[in-house]
Amino acid sequence: MNNRYILYLCFLMYFLCTFHIVPAQELEPIKLLEPDKSRGLPFMQALAVKASAREWSDKELNLQDLSDILWAANGLNRPEEKKTTASSAMNAHDVDIYVFVQKGVYVYNIYNHELEPVLKGDYRSQIMMTRPPRPTDSAPRPAGDPPSTDLAKAPPPPPPASNPPVQMILISDSERFPRGSKELRYEWGAIDAGIISQNISLFCAATGIKTRPRASMDREKIRTLLNLTDTHYVFLNHPVGYAK
Ligand SMILES: Cc1cc2nc3c(=O)[nH]c(=O)nc-3n(C[C@H](O)[C@H](O)[C@H](O)COP(=O)(O)O)c2cc1C
Repeated sequence: MNNRYILYLCFLMYFLCTFHIVPAQELEPIKLLEPDKSRGLPFMQALAVKASAREWSDKELNLQDLSDILWAANGLNRPEEKKTTASSAMNAHDVDIYVFVQKGVYVYNIYNHELEPVLKGDYRSQIMMTRPPRPTDSAPRPAGDPPSTDLAKAPPPPPPASNPPVQMILISDSERFPRGSKELRYEWGAIDAGIISQNISLFCAATGIKTRPRASMDREKIRTLLNLTDTHYVFLNHPVGYAK
């Protein structure tokens, strides 16, 4: 190997490490555990204690809790019909749950109850909004929709009081709907994401795990990191963790 080749390799390694461009293949898929369907408060009691959190312990979520929350959010509950705990327009399953943890970013595969690797590296703090939102921070609306409020004038959202170990991002891929105008696909995606969000909140209420549905996040950063196209809408995020 000549010196120039070694120098080139060193430069390449430096570039990859500095910019955290490490192939997702280095992350293994996470096989989730069978959901424990017997846990949690009775439904009405869960509703009675449902509340959004602002503080989390930085303790990692254990695998059973992670498995159960994802199944509750949008897991297959009638596999023979490919149907899930969250209803979805045309049963299109347009919403993906991206899971940001310390090791990297994964996406929940509802069909085999597994987390598929997307990106290696800790991006949790980068996707939280730490500056005043810009007009482009809202999920892009289809043409013809009323303009959104002037986000640029809005005060910055309160920063999270602590760092949750898991960030779940709900993203609709409107191409999965077999038909419908752009406006309708946007609307269905937003509703589908809302249903999953409420499943997450209710599971957490029932089990004492802490979460909060949040619209504020750095959408531009998320779109770039996840290589999203203009058929994707980034709707909500859910920090998840244990009580501080
Ligand atoms: C669509 C949606 C967007 C939200 N966005 C944010 C947000 O960006 N930041 C935040 O701190 N809370 C956010 N929340 C949480 C609400 O502030 C919270 O749900 C509300 O205060 C009611 O409190 P509760 O969830 O405890 O009932 C959002 C909730 C919803 C449903």
